[in-house]
Amino acid sequence: MKCVALKGLKEFEVKEIPQPTVDHQNVVLEVKKCGICGSDIHYWVAGEPIGLVLGHEFSGVVKDPGARTDLKIGDRVTGLPISPCGKCEACLSGNPQYCPSTWTYAVGLSLTNPGALAEETKVRPDMVLKLPDTVSDEEGAMVEPTAVGLHAIHLADIKVGAKVLVIGGGIIGLVSAMFAKMEGASYVAVSETNKARGEKAVRLGVADEWFDAKDTKMVENLMIKTNGGFDVVVECCGNSPAVGTSLMTVKPGGTVVLVGVSLGTVTIPTVVGVMKELKLQGAIGYTKQEFETCINLIAEKKINVLKFVDDIVSLEEVQHAYERLTSGTDDAVKILVDPNK
Ligand SMILES: NC(=O)c1ccc[n+]([C@@H]2O[C@H](COP(=O)([O-])OP(=O)(O)OC[C@H]3O[C@@H](n4cnc5c(N)ncnc54)[C@H](O)[C@@H]3O)[C@@H](O)[C@H]2O)c1
Ligand SMILES: [Zn+2]
Ligand SMILES: [Zn+2]
Repeated sequence: MKCVALKGLKEFEVKEIPQPTVDHQNVVLEVKKCGICGSDIHYWVAGEPIGLVLGHEFSGVVKDPGARTDLKIGDRVTGLPISPCGKCEACLSGNPQYCPSTWTYAVGLSLTNPGALAEETKVRPDMVLKLPDTVSDEEGAMVEPTAVGLHAIHLADIKVGAKVLVIGGGIIGLVSAMFAKMEGASYVAVSETNKARGEKAVRLGVADEWFDAKDTKMVENLMIKTNGGFDVVVECCGNSPAVGTSLMTVKPGGTVVLVGVSLGTVTIPTVVGVMKELKLQGAIGYTKQEFETCINLIAEKKINVLKFVDDIVSLEEVQHAYERLTSGTDDAVKILVDPNK
């Protein structure tokens, strides 16, 4: 079958790999749509591991139901890409995101489990979730990143009337901003280095205002605007300037939620954290319940995730899609891949 695999630094190749084998355990899917995620971009930029087939945000139809007796061929599904052990304290308490094996064999994030940038993929039976008829294939592929934002905002513990800053207007920032408003924030600002993305956050209605992170006066302006800082800052970039800004713009006693991933070390002015008595809250992934909540919110039209989708491309166009997403000027936020296009 055809797939897209990592070939080197910022380089993909379209190639043939064997179809997933039917093992009467895992569910084999024909991929319908697969999202390109900011985390995937980190691998593409690093150029390793070579041969990795990315794609952990997917929808598909069941080709082989494996151990799932309640599924049949042709059922429309999505799935959590994670691989929790199911036995440890974290798993038993409903927090698979803390399980040490959760990301080790994750679909589309490990060499052992090729992802959905392919005609077919294989998912653990307990991670597959049926899609209601009211959820399209495109929406099905949007559940995963939406659940990341929901988890981050659950942990942010936003109070009605709170002022929230979201740093980074990629998909994670945009869904976080959307949920911050739903939780009752009275003012949501987004900061961006990419003007087109900043403007888009406002145009899509998830941010009240956007601020240019390249402006050296941005922190000062934000402090004036909020009269002393934000109740909550959600950091959705992971780089050093963004993490620094989160500490500078949160108000004393406030919360910084770290969602962005940095593969390197980020140094922070700890004195700011000490003097402001900040709460630093990490956020990784989601729980199964949050994943299901997102499916339900989409099915019931309580949230619109299609407005974040800019394009749907073929496997051959994946390389170009990554170049667009990292151009720093293009306003595309979420590009889906259709392996049958
Ligand atoms: N914690 C988790 O569970 C989880 C899950 C998914 C993604 N992530 C991480 O979250 C981050 C965002 O993901 P995404 O898919 O939205 O990525 P993305 O690359 O599409 O978005 C990041 C945005 O940040 C902007 N940016 C960069 N530096 C900035 C700065 N100093 N100030 C303001 N904006 C800046 C970029 O222009 C870009 O629009 C990534 O680091 C990703 O790895 C974390
Ligand atoms: Zn993702
Ligand atoms: Zn576990």
